[in-house]
Amino acid sequence: MMTSEETLQQQRALLDNIPDMAWLKDRSCRYLAVNTAYLEVLALPEEAVLGKRPDEIWPSEIAEVYLRTDRAVLKSGRRRRYEETRPDSSGNIRWFETIKSPIRDQAGRIIGTVGISRDISERKSAESELIRSRAQLRELTNYLQSVREEERARISRELHDELGQTLTALKMELGWLKERLPNEPDLLRTRVDRLMQIVDQSVIDLQRIATDLRPMILDELGLVSAIQWLTQSFSTGSAVKVELSVDRNDLHYSKDVSTAAFRIAQEALTNIIRHSKATSARIVVSHAANDLQLDISDDGCGMDLTASKRERLGLIGMAERARMLGGSMEIDTAPGRGTRICVRLPLSINRTAIASSS
Ligand SMILES: Nc1ncnc2c1ncn2[C@@H]1O[C@H](COP(=O)(O)OP(=O)(O)O)[C@@H](O)[C@H]1O
Ligand SMILES: [Mg+2]
Repeated sequence: MMTSEETLQQQRALLDNIPDMAWLKDRSCRYLAVNTAYLEVLALPEEAVLGKRPDEIWPSEIAEVYLRTDRAVLKSGRRRRYEETRPDSSGNIRWFETIKSPIRDQAGRIIGTVGISRDISERKSAESELIRSRAQLRELTNYLQSVREEERARISRELHDELGQTLTALKMELGWLKERLPNEPDLLRTRVDRLMQIVDQSVIDLQRIATDLRPMILDELGLVSAIQWLTQSFSTGSAVKVELSVDRNDLHYSKDVSTAAFRIAQEALTNIIRHSKATSARIVVSHAANDLQLDISDDGCGMDLTASKRERLGLIGMAERARMLGGSMEIDTAPGRGTRICVRLPLSINRTAIASSS
């Protein structure tokens, strides 16, 4: 048979073995027991704490929280977990995670509460550092993406305007030369013809490279035309039949929205051709409220998004583009069920709202 003195000693040992603050309170929130860690924080001897209520030993704004949460546990009969702040002895704010549970007697009546409180300041500051650095990474990605887009547009324009003009001039000069060549020898004419063919092929190559960098149609005729062009070139260049439907094409989009929507559609179509084994795909461009919606679906093999694969950087990039403009992207897919990607891009954006939500 254990004496009550022994039971108390065991309770003490149990509490003192906990490195976090731990305590027991009765129904009226009076301390029945506190551990050494608790007394160290209070810098008080045990006699000054036992039998007291929080409002007799803590500053009132802190005590108020403790009493409120004690009562919530007593009332609900459930365990509560919450995070709170409290200044330490030098006035620095620290974060605590506190867990409080009811204590019941043999009949199941609640006779008090038991609690434990852990200093989680380091975790909290690591968390906020993580959030901060993720936001910074996002911004950097966005910045790099826009720099890359501008760079591509510039190179594309220069290839087209500068080099394109040069090649055209070269062709004209060759034509002039050919006109003035003596009829004989034939060898020279053949050589000039060959040169003209090479120039023609270079013009075609140049246009393809410039368009791959950034299709001029996007800046000149707008998003819908660019997506029409994209759809056609994917349809003719692959075994997948791509259909397009557009609910309206009288809108003018900002450059950010056009670029994001175009690049997302381009990556989605590239994925369909590369991975889906689909026979047909469909792009639906629609408008709802103040959003542009892009819905890209295929009847291919689908994918298992729960399977841990190496990073899906293409898909992540698409979602990030939408996110940076305050929009969103959802993927609806399962193995054997095809894939559907829904993107929403707000047409008027509130950048401060996006910045504060990230
Ligand atoms: N439309 C699709 N149908 C089937 N699988 C797809 C489709 N789109 C993407 N996937 C799968 O998701 C993976 C990740 O795609 P993505 O992030 O674009 O990277 P990548 O194209 O470089 O492999 C692909 O490797 C492919 O397995
Ligand atoms: Mg891809």
